[in-house]
Amino acid sequence: MKTGFIGYGSMGQMIINGLLNTNALDTDKIIISTRDLDKLKKLKSQYPLIEITDDNGLLAKKSDKIFVFVNTNEVKNVIEEIKFYKSNIHLIHIAAGLNMSTIQSIFPGKISKVIPSLTSLTGAGVALINHNDKVRPAEKRFVENLFASISEVKIIPEEDFEAGTNLTSSAPAFIAFIISKYAEIAKQDSNFSQEEAEEMIKTTLDGTSKLLAQGMEFEEIIDRVATKGGITEEGLNILEYKLETLFQELFTTIGEKYEKFQLELKQEYKKN
Ligand SMILES: NC(=O)c1ccc[n+]([C@@H]2O[C@H](COP(=O)([O-])OP(=O)(O)OC[C@H]3O[C@@H](n4cnc5c(N)ncnc54)[C@H](OP(=O)(O)O)[C@@H]3O)[C@@H](O)[C@H]2O)c1
Repeated sequence: MKTGFIGYGSMGQMIINGLLNTNALDTDKIIISTRDLDKLKKLKSQYPLIEITDDNGLLAKKSDKIFVFVNTNEVKNVIEEIKFYKSNIHLIHIAAGLNMSTIQSIFPGKISKVIPSLTSLTGAGVALINHNDKVRPAEKRFVENLFASISEVKIIPEEDFEAGTNLTSSAPAFIAFIISKYAEIAKQDSNFSQEEAEEMIKTTLDGTSKLLAQGMEFEEIIDRVATKGGITEEGLNILEYKLETLFQELFTTIGEKYEKFQLELKQEYKKN
């Protein structure tokens, strides 16, 4: 039996190429399906033993484990399609907001949920994983080992996915936005272009990540930069005052959206 991957978009490409680069899977044991086969031409020329198809049913017939990397609103259609061919597959999906109980309402088999992060493009970051009780230990290890080859892996209960996603998968977007805004405002009243400002802050961000990676705690970095009564300390006072409210508002707002999204999916899965 092969390992099947359905969907070769942003996440599909990142994960499949990451797994291939680390030799985590034998290429003759992989089958990939996507709607537009042209997207897979380059991969097929690099790895001729990989089987490619635009037929999810054919993929389902040949696979015992199927990774679903399609857009969240397409997951239901894909499940209906593949379960028609086989019910005993191990289904692994990456759709944020799609709860285990919702997906189990149409597919009562083995399900693992993984929330990957774009940072896996660099072999870093955290993949969050949860399995339902039908997944056997060896099958859990298979999924966890694959993702461990392109990121760190954290097994979490379903109720922590929202906070976990904020801390991992969504965070690169928030961090990138905050940093680019910081550069835009910081350069005002200077002769720096936006490009120069971004370059300076990116290099500083890189250095700060390295300090953290070397074990320096957040507090030590803050203490060593912000001398008592100095200019940076004044800035920190503003951040202390405003950031807590800002982040509370941010997480409340996206929490409401997450809940609404979960409910909409639940309703959608109830329809025949
Ligand atoms: N982006 C992130 O950082 C991130 C993080 C964690 C989780 N996720 C989740 O990852 C999932 C995919 O996101 P993405 O950003 O990779 O989306 P994307 O770039 O739009 O990719 C989705 C891919 O699935 C293909 N597809 C759609 N329906 C299909 C079907 N019925 N059969 C075969 N292939 C099909 C699409 O093909 P076409 O090209 O023909 O449309 C496209 O290549 C979403 O559920 C999202 O919530 C994303």
